[in-house]
Amino acid sequence: MSGTDTPRLQVRGLTKRFGGLLAVKGIGFDIQAGEILGLIGPNGSGKSTVMKLIMGIERPNAGSVKLDGVEMAGWAPHRIARAGVGIVFQHSRPLHRQTVLEHIKLALLPDSLIKLFADPHVERRAREIAERVELGAVMHRHPSSLPFADLRRMEMAKAIARDPKVVLVDEPFAGLNAAESESFAALIRGFRAEGRAVLLVDHNVKSLAALVDRVLAMYLGEHVAEGTAEEVMQDETVRRVYIGGKIETRERPPDEARSKVSILEVQDLSVFYGKARALDTVSMHVREGEFVSVVGLNGAGKTTLFNAISGLLPYQGRIRFGGRDLNGMTGAAVARAGIVQCPETRELFGDMTVRENLDLGGYHLPSGARLPQLTWLFELFPILKSRQGQTARTLSGGEQQMLAIARALMMQPKLLVLDEPTLGLAPVILEQLSKALERLQQTTPITVLLGEQNVTFALPHADRVYVLEHARIVWEGNPARFAKEMGRGYLEAEVADGTSVHPGSE
Ligand SMILES: Nc1ncnc2c1ncn2[C@@H]1O[C@H](COP(=O)(O)OP(=O)(O)OP(=O)(O)O)[C@@H](O)[C@H]1O
Ligand SMILES: [Mg+2]
Repeated sequence: MSGTDTPRLQVRGLTKRFGGLLAVKGIGFDIQAGEILGLIGPNGSGKSTVMKLIMGIERPNAGSVKLDGVEMAGWAPHRIARAGVGIVFQHSRPLHRQTVLEHIKLALLPDSLIKLFADPHVERRAREIAERVELGAVMHRHPSSLPFADLRRMEMAKAIARDPKVVLVDEPFAGLNAAESESFAALIRGFRAEGRAVLLVDHNVKSLAALVDRVLAMYLGEHVAEGTAEEVMQDETVRRVYIGGKIETRERPPDEARSKVSILEVQDLSVFYGKARALDTVSMHVREGEFVSVVGLNGAGKTTLFNAISGLLPYQGRIRFGGRDLNGMTGAAVARAGIVQCPETRELFGDMTVRENLDLGGYHLPSGARLPQLTWLFELFPILKSRQGQTARTLSGGEQQMLAIARALMMQPKLLVLDEPTLGLAPVILEQLSKALERLQQTTPITVLLGEQNVTFALPHADRVYVLEHARIVWEGNPARFAKEMGRGYLEAEVADGTSVHPGSE
């Protein structure tokens, strides 16, 4: 605590309007030095907008943002940064010519002092920071060659280098496995120990609750609850609009799909990135109507496997779909054959609206089938319905993820390949998505191949599970055996995983 009555950061009546949408309505809170405030709420509730307003990236329509009692609302972002506010974004946009260490050095120097780049003190300090965020071993590499978690670490390092009094951290745990989440949590605890004020947003409710001093919950731009993590998670509105219920494990005769033929067969698949082997003689299959989960940590090769299947990468070995050899087929031809991957590497059309993105997905459907499909998708993701006319690039993180999934479903694929669909989604949306996949399976002949490190989501629906580790399939079996045999290593991931948290209900 600061020991004075003036909070380090004081926010009052913060309000932001985007056209007809009131994205943030009169939000207020204090954060003391050495305190972490968690900010939670469903996708699109205004959390990232609050951070952008504090940082000056968006201009508030009304409200006050004070740092140590000094009003900053309306200042330009660089001035707010210089006054001592730092933000760690979910997505990094690194400079490609600079190494990791150079990125940190740039962050250490105010613009006017760039000539001190070669200063031994700056060099030493940058190295210390690289070590602190566990990038010591890769500090001379370029960001483009780093795995996802290391890019996130570099963003943390840049924030530390600027030595901010207030740090805004947006979804640090998204896409990280349990061990990685724990090392990020330790860094954030370090911020608190150093007396910084931290505003933390994340959908991983367990990791967030373990870290914060207090929580504020938002819904539709408004304040709905505030208190200790426990109090807020018990709040009735928070449970209804955000946390939702448990993801149910489905009941299904164990060998139901056994008799069916394989629709997808992968044989001795190897993929190289330069000299590095990303997949090593992987063989697997998916039967018609089956739900197969591929579980594995970051960098294990899941996305590479899916990209090869989708025709987006050259590979060695053989991939057959519906009896047809896919080798040499373009991504577009594979998609026409009925394999749709989501989120696609070719992303959403940012300048097009939600509705236009969905219509594109459904253009090949018979015209009578489009509207019912759209209606169903809007039932599944009601927020997309209310955002139909909004351009995709201005959607919140979770809304974009929902749109990508909805567009894939709009295409009515034979084989739906879902690569980490849970990324950035609120727990309540995971529950809805889980039910929707269930219903799809019961009512249509769809086959699903799911890649996840969120085991809580991957296991309940799966008929079979493959475990991919270091470019190889190391285990195959059903979910019940997975729990017994693959044991701790993976299931411990649940501890760092918000989807399984239901405070008070057990
Ligand atoms: N530039 C913009 N124009 C129009 N609407 C916008 C714009 N930026 C954000 N919005 C809308 O404002 C709402 C709040 O967005 P915000 O990104 O703050 O949500 P969030 O709480 O961070 O959600 P998530 O958990 O999905 O990241 C969303 O519905 C979003 O679509
Ligand atoms: Mg957000």
